[in-house]
Amino acid sequence: MMQFLKTRWQLLLIGLLSMALIATLVFFGALGRVADKPSSDGRLRLLLTPAERDLVLNEMRHLLATVQGIIVAAQENDMKRVAETARAVGMADVRAMPPEIRGPLIGKLPIEFKRLGFGVHEDLDMLALDAEALRDRDHTLKQLAQLMQKCVACHATYAIAAEGGKNSGE
Ligand code: HEC
Repeated sequence: MMQFLKTRWQLLLIGLLSMALIATLVFFGALGRVADKPSSDGRLRLLLTPAERDLVLNEMRHLLATVQGIIVAAQENDMKRVAETARAVGMADVRAMPPEIRGPLIGKLPIEFKRLGFGVHEDLDMLALDAEALRDRDHTLKQLAQLMQKCVACHATYAIAAEGGKNSGE
C-alpha cells in the first residue's frame, strides 16, 4: 500500500513538472516575443534588435530577388538555373546565418512565424530538386505560386519593430 502511494505521488509530481515544462515551452516557444501593442495596421510586431531586423529584411530582399530570378529562368526554360537560384535560399542558407544572431533570433520568433519561414526555405529546396528531376517549368511555377502563399500569409500577420527604432509604433 505504502509503495502504491509513493508511486502515485511520484506520478503526480511528474505530471506537475511536465505541465510546468509545457507551459514554459508554450510561453517562450509558441508565443515568441511580440509587442503588447500591434502595429498601426493591426499586425503582430516581432521585437527584434536592429541587427536582427537588418538580417531578416536582408533575407527578405534576397527572397524577392530569388522569386524574380526563378520566374526569369523558368521563362527562358533554363531549369538548371531555376534549381541553382532556388537552392541558394534553401535551408542551407538559413543554417549559414551567423550563429550569434541565429540562436537568439530563432528563440524569439513565434512558432507560426518559424513554420511559415522555414516552410518557404524547405519549399525552395523541393522546387530545386523537382526542377532538376522533372524539368517541367509549369510544375515549377505552380510550386512557386504555392510557396508564395506563405510569403503572403506571413506578411498579413507579422511586422517587425526594431527595439527603439522608428518602426516601433510608439
Ligand atoms: C515567416 C514570415 C515571412 C515569410 C514567410 C516571408 N516574409 Fe517577407 N517579411 C516578413 C516580415 C515580418 C517583414 C517586415 C514587414 C514589416 O515590418 O512591415 C517582411 C518584409 C519583406 C520585404 C521588405 C524588405 C525590406 O527591406 O523592407 C520583402 C521584399 C519581403 N518580405 C519579401 C518576401 C518574399 C518574396 C517572401 C516569400 C518568398 C517572403 N517575404 C516571405 C515576414 C515574412
